[in-house]
Formats: sequence, structure tokens, C-alpha cells
Amino acid sequence: MRVCVVGSGGREHALAVALSATADVVVAPGNPGMEGLERSDVAPERIEADLWVIGPEQPLVEGLADRIRGRGGLVFGPGADGARLEGSKAWMKEVLVAARVPTAGWRAFDDIGPALSYLRALPGPWAIKTDGLAAGKGVLVTGSRDEAVADVRAKLSGVAFGAAGRRVVIEEALSGQEISVIAVCDGRRAYPLDCAQDYKRVGDGGTGPNTGGMGAYSPVPFGSGEIVGHVMERAILPTLHALSKRGINYRGALYAGVMLTEDGPKILEFNVRFGDPEVQVLLPRWAGDVTATLAAAASGALTDDHAADFSKQAAVCVVLATPGYPDKPEPGAPIEGLDRAREAPGARVYAAGVAQSPDGGLVTAGGRVLDVVGTGADLVEARRLAYQAAAMVRWPGVVNRSDVADFAGHTDLADHTDHADHTDHTGGRA
Ligand code: AMP
Ligand code: GLY
Repeated sequence: MRVCVVGSGGREHALAVALSATADVVVAPGNPGMEGLERSDVAPERIEADLWVIGPEQPLVEGLADRIRGRGGLVFGPGADGARLEGSKAWMKEVLVAARVPTAGWRAFDDIGPALSYLRALPGPWAIKTDGLAAGKGVLVTGSRDEAVADVRAKLSGVAFGAAGRRVVIEEALSGQEISVIAVCDGRRAYPLDCAQDYKRVGDGGTGPNTGGMGAYSPVPFGSGEIVGHVMERAILPTLHALSKRGINYRGALYAGVMLTEDGPKILEFNVRFGDPEVQVLLPRWAGDVTATLAAAASGALTDDHAADFSKQAAVCVVLATPGYPDKPEPGAPIEGLDRAREAPGARVYAAGVAQSPDGGLVTAGGRVLDVVGTGADLVEARRLAYQAAAMVRWPGVVNRSDVADFAGHTDLADHTDHADHTDHTGGRA
């Protein structure tokens, strides 16, 4: 089977490597760090393939899956109708309510007057979100009413996020541990992957601005199979059903951002794709034929044979970024030591923001440059192997978190990862 993976980041690199185990893979467009993989700059819908796997949300929201299906192609990824779950937070909330999925109290506004009245009436802290896609920066969580008011004004006026912010969703901020539960869906049935946790802030201890994700790990000590089962029963399956009632045949990954609150798990958001960098730690643990599973989901034919089995091994991903990331990434630095890191024991390196330099080497291009993943018998070993390999790669001013999956000395794991508190300023996910 020939599979076209659409996208150019670390998530797509990881998907392409996993699919290559049982398929002939082309990545469109990919990046020059995707060693040993075929790449193509041809528009994805014009590439010859038996299956398309679309990585990022933007092309899904723009209807790429519909265009390929319109030509008779088999696609893993929702059409524009289902992708609206990520493309409009207000619509996502409507679906959640219709499906009776536990979520934070909310309302959507186009006008400043009613928005500010709601803000005055709702006890804080608050989460203020752009309705539309905002490259991962559209969410502010704050306990300061002044800050919330200023943010609502900046968004609704179009100053902060243009058209994406002209409608805002204001909701109560929840607190607790946040986990990612991703399910593979075929329109009616869905099977979950194991859960993962990502690290959103750029700095250790969850400090500094929000990013697309600075690391991830799986399994999650406080994310049991019971919690995953609960999220499937209370969120993923009811949502698929609610979509189906609207005539939407959702075939692709459905990613639930889940807050483990004192009142049980609540859904913060849905994404309509695999998480980045979550899937980089899930794929190495996913036993079974990933190609067959995604192809079955794309054809509406998932069976129990496709339920994903996860190895007991642990995986930890450390993201290496350019200096200045995420506010003002400074690209163009030569990347050294990549070959050594690729060969380091228990490690693999996925390329995200890299470009070819004229002398044939690789230079940094995007904000997030490389994803270094360690796998081992447990999180301690996986973490050690990931950081050992990460230390072999260098460019001036490389930025990475040093506390991914660092539970050392903490009996209460919940105290040691990026959990939401009431003073957080947190952006969305990129
Ligand atoms: P979203 O774009 O909706 O995924 O939000 C991005 C991030 O903002 C989430 O991953 C959370 O860390 C945070 N967040 C979103 N909504 C809430 C909420 N209601 N309460 C607390 N944190 C939130
Ligand atoms: N890591 C968060 C996301 O993919 O949205």
C-alpha cells in the first residue's frame, strides 16, 4: 500500500516512520531532516496513493480531506464539517453540550457589551478563547478580571488575532492535571490510544509563554486505563454519535484535551488530528499495524482487531527549539551532532523545523526544530535516554525544557507537571 502523509513537522515524521513498517510512504511536503523517506512537493491531492494521512489541522479545516475523497481517495482525517470541531471553539462547545459531554461552563460572544456582562457575572478564573484557529496562541487563562477584560477587547476588536478573534468563547477555568486522550475513529466506532501528557510552556516548571509543545511522555502515571475508558464513554463516543446525527462521518483522529478535575474528567477541547508531540511518544509504544488501522478507520471498517495495543515500554520526547521561541524564533543556525543523536541507544530523532543549507547540511528553520524521543523500560530510563541523545545535538542558543517526565523525588506526581492553576496564562496548542 502506498501512503501519502501530509505535513512537514515532527508529528508527520513520526507517522511516516511508523507507517513505513508496513507501507510505501511519501511525505508531502515533509522536510529535509526526514532521512530515508520519499518526499514530494506536489499538491497532496495530485499524488498517487492508496491512503492519505493528514497531519495538521489547517488543511483539514480547509477541506483537503473532502477534495481527496472527491477524487475517490481514501483519507484518514475528517472533512471540513468534522474539522470544525477544532476550527470553531463555539461550535465545538455546542456539540459537547448536545452530546452531554462534561466540559467547562461557557458562552460565545461577537459583541463586547454582552461579553463583559457575562465576564462580570461569572466568578473567575476565566479562560478566554478565540473562536477560530490562532496558531496556538488563542487562549488566555487568568484570575485577573482586568486582564480578562483587556483580552476580550483585544480579541473582539480584531487587534489581537484578526478574524479568528472576532468571536470569543468565555468559559470558567478548570484546574487539575491535563492529559491527552486520542482515539482513532471510523465514523461510528473508535479505539483509544494510551494517554500522554505534553508540556505547553517553554520554560521549566511550566513558566514562560505557551508553545506548540516542548515535550511529552507516555504512559501517564495518573492516566489509567479506567480514565481513558471513561473519556471514551463520556466524551469521544457521544461526540461521534452527535456528529453522525448532524450527518458528519468523522474518520480520523479525535484528540480530547482532558482536565482531571475534582469533579471528574472534563473536556477542555477537541483537536481533529494526532497531537504533536504526543504522537511522537505514542507511536513507538503502539504495537500492531498502524497502516492497517488507519486504513480501516478511513474506510469505516474498524474492528476489534484494530484496537491499539500498547507496549509496557515508556517513551519521553524532548523538543529542541530555536532561541527566541515561541515569540521571536531565530532560525538559520547549523545543526551539529544530529547523526550521533540518531544513533544513540534507545533514541530516535524526528525532524520538524529544519532546512537544507547550501553546503548540504541542515540548519534550523522553524521554532520547534527536532524532537528527540527516548524509549526504555520505564519513564526514568526513557527520560535518561532522551536527554542523553538530546545533549548530542547542538546549535547556538538551543532551547529545551530540562524537566520533561522529571518526577524524581516527588511522591505526588501531580505536583510536578504543567498543571493549570488559576494564574496561568496559557495559549492554545500549535
Ligand atoms: P484550547 O485551545 O482550548 O485547547 O486551550 C489550550 C490550553 O488552554 C489547554 O490545553 C489548557 O491548558 C488551557 N485551557 C483551555 N481551556 C481551559 C479551561 N477552561 N480551564 C483551564 N485551562 C484551560
Ligand atoms: N500538543 C498539543 C497539540 O497537538 O495540540
